[in-house]
Amino acid sequence: MNIDFANLQYQHNLYKDEIEESLLKVARKCNFIMGEDVQELEKSLEIFTGAKYAVTCSNGTDALLLAMMALDIKPGDEIITTPFTFIATAETIAFLGAKPVFVDIDEKTYNIDASKIEKVITNKTKAIIPVSLYGQPAAMDEIQTIATKNNLKVIIDGAQSFGSTYSCKTDSNLGDISTTSFFPAKPLGCYGDGGAVFTNNEELADKMKSLRLHGQSKRYHHKYIGMGGRLDTMQAAVLNVKLKYYPKDLALRQEVASKYTKALEKKLNLVLPYVDEKSTSAWAQYSVRVKSRDELQVKLKAVGIPTAVHYPMPLHLQECFQYLGYKKGDFPISEIISDEIMSLPMNPYVTEEEIQYICENL
Ligand SMILES: Cc1ncc(COP(=O)(O)O)c(C=O)c1O
Repeated sequence: MNIDFANLQYQHNLYKDEIEESLLKVARKCNFIMGEDVQELEKSLEIFTGAKYAVTCSNGTDALLLAMMALDIKPGDEIITTPFTFIATAETIAFLGAKPVFVDIDEKTYNIDASKIEKVITNKTKAIIPVSLYGQPAAMDEIQTIATKNNLKVIIDGAQSFGSTYSCKTDSNLGDISTTSFFPAKPLGCYGDGGAVFTNNEELADKMKSLRLHGQSKRYHHKYIGMGGRLDTMQAAVLNVKLKYYPKDLALRQEVASKYTKALEKKLNLVLPYVDEKSTSAWAQYSVRVKSRDELQVKLKAVGIPTAVHYPMPLHLQECFQYLGYKKGDFPISEIISDEIMSLPMNPYVTEEEIQYICENL
């Protein structure tokens, strides 16, 4: 067997005619920048997420920048986040001259441990950025309570969790601003780079719309220092087709995850994913903990099973963040999980046969 990790080819073939027609329409109209597909997508995203305003943008990294710029994050501000995430979460904080302040993760969900947040709040703290890692929202009730009490903003990095829920609300409809990524391998992926920000605050939505267009208020009149952060019409055209089928994709991802869990339950060498009872996951990844992970990965690869590590090094130990002064041992749970975590092939179309094969080999 030779298993495909994200199986994008299969997904394309499934909706091929509609997607290709949609792309051709854009090509024929030549409305490549901010064409109607973009507005149509934003409307559909608002309906799907329940957030009042969806503003599409160039990618999930720029979505984080737009969110922080809209909230006036400035050099010297401190932003609390998790060290166990993709670099973009903290890189964007540093890019704006603010300081990432890390808090270790919960050992079960791998998301920021809300009980440790208050200890690191100072008079410079402006916001908390929880990440909905692998598709599952963080402990949003606890985080929101701390934020409200301390007058802090909450930006959810939902790059991996589009369509997940917490207390029956999508995680795009929580916090002050929520972001997502439409990178091809994400649960809702486009055919290149793409992202979006969500908010229920009209002023923030208008500001982010302006910021993604170089801060302009009207053509060639610039109210803010902004960025070139638009989503291409081509990407919106792809997403308009894929979003229609997304509820089905989410249900299939849940099915694949449940099948993995059922098949792996008795394997004592593995720690399986844990989803809190308040949450549903978008299952961007199905990640297990295992000792001697690197050795196992090599063995699995040899029998046609691809795996991935999200992420092998927590951010406080990355070279680019040396200046923050953290050292090994500062966030022990993140460090242990980084050594042991391994993601199995995950997409809506992993077959029963593939799951059996993967589980037997594990
Ligand atoms: C947690 C997290 N944040 C941000 C991003 C950045 O998204 P993008 O690649 O679309 O810029 C990613 C993408 O991998 C991510 O996983």
